[in-house]
Amino acid sequence: MQDPLQQRIYVAGHTGMVGSAISRRLKRDGYLLVGPKSRVDLRDQRRTMDMFSELKPDLVFLAAAKVGGIYANLTYPADFIYDNLMIQTNVIHASCQHSVKKLLFLGSSCIYPAKSPQPIKEEYLLSGYLEKTNEAYALSKIAGIFMCQSYNRQYGTNFISLMPANLYGPGDTFDPSNSHVIPALIRKIHTGKESGAESVEIWGTGNPRREFLYVDDLADACLFLMENYDSSEIINVGAGKEVTIRDLAHLIGEVIGYRGEFTFNDDMPDGVPQKLLNTSKIAKMGWQPSTALREGLEKTYQWFLDNVAGSG
Ligand SMILES: NC(=O)c1ccc[n+]([C@@H]2O[C@H](COP(=O)([O-])OP(=O)(O)OC[C@H]3O[C@@H](n4cnc5c(N)ncnc54)[C@H](OP(=O)(O)O)[C@@H]3O)[C@@H](O)[C@H]2O)c1
Repeated sequence: MQDPLQQRIYVAGHTGMVGSAISRRLKRDGYLLVGPKSRVDLRDQRRTMDMFSELKPDLVFLAAAKVGGIYANLTYPADFIYDNLMIQTNVIHASCQHSVKKLLFLGSSCIYPAKSPQPIKEEYLLSGYLEKTNEAYALSKIAGIFMCQSYNRQYGTNFISLMPANLYGPGDTFDPSNSHVIPALIRKIHTGKESGAESVEIWGTGNPRREFLYVDDLADACLFLMENYDSSEIINVGAGKEVTIRDLAHLIGEVIGYRGEFTFNDDMPDGVPQKLLNTSKIAKMGWQPSTALREGLEKTYQWFLDNVAGSG
């Protein structure tokens, strides 16, 4: 059998939050990473095919995607569905054509129906209507899952699909127009501290409960599944715990050292009251996350201070 450390591994999206966490982890463990010398637009089929001919990867982590928060999803739904369908179609098809031994496709918890019973089991996929705000993005991810399954059935490939909970960590997007809840709160509360504000306003009632997985834990799960999971069935990866937005804001306030108050603007929408993945499938395989929320927030805030706060 080939030495796993000699396998040629391509991480699509290696500059993003997830791709860079997977790459860091692979490099730390001595794996052989391959990638193009300059950025290849993965929406371009010819360039993607040429890149695969050149790199000849054995394993592919597909972490390239157009990703964003509610505002970006509502404003640019065409870009979300076009970019994601093109990127994943080209990478999955090229992986099959170039006899990639295994591919891991990253989906998202938004593929599940908005009114799913909690915690959300893998089998709830396509059992109801999607959340409206990111329907285009979610549909592209569902297409990616079915593409992996169809290639496995028709061509005997080994393409697996992982559904992560909300992620956060170093490399996250802190741009206010395109960020998810944790980076948005970090930026807002940090700004409140710097300006000496007596209060910081949080959108919504603060009551919704959400699950957050630290990105290095996700990278660990990606490697674990690459080594141990060979099924077409999707598999959830989450923290297994949830926190209210109110408690999250207070925790981030403590991490940042903000001493003011929080106000909750209930004129702004809350979204679904709860979103928690059922992670018993991966837990039964012996995997669990290892980073507590406070520790993950501390590392993320440090990364924000080192890489974002000073640069405007
Ligand atoms: N963030 C979350 O909370 C979350 C939750 C669940 C699932 N996921 C999934 O995890 C995966 C990675 O997400 P992320 O948070 O790491 O996103 P990210 O930080 O925005 O990174 C996206 C990556 O994709 C690359 N990319 C985008 N368009 C490309 C194109 N046309 N050609 C080549 N590369 C392109 C980006 O490279 P450039 O910067 O060069 O464009 C970047 O490396 C996605 O599939 C996402 O659905 C994320």
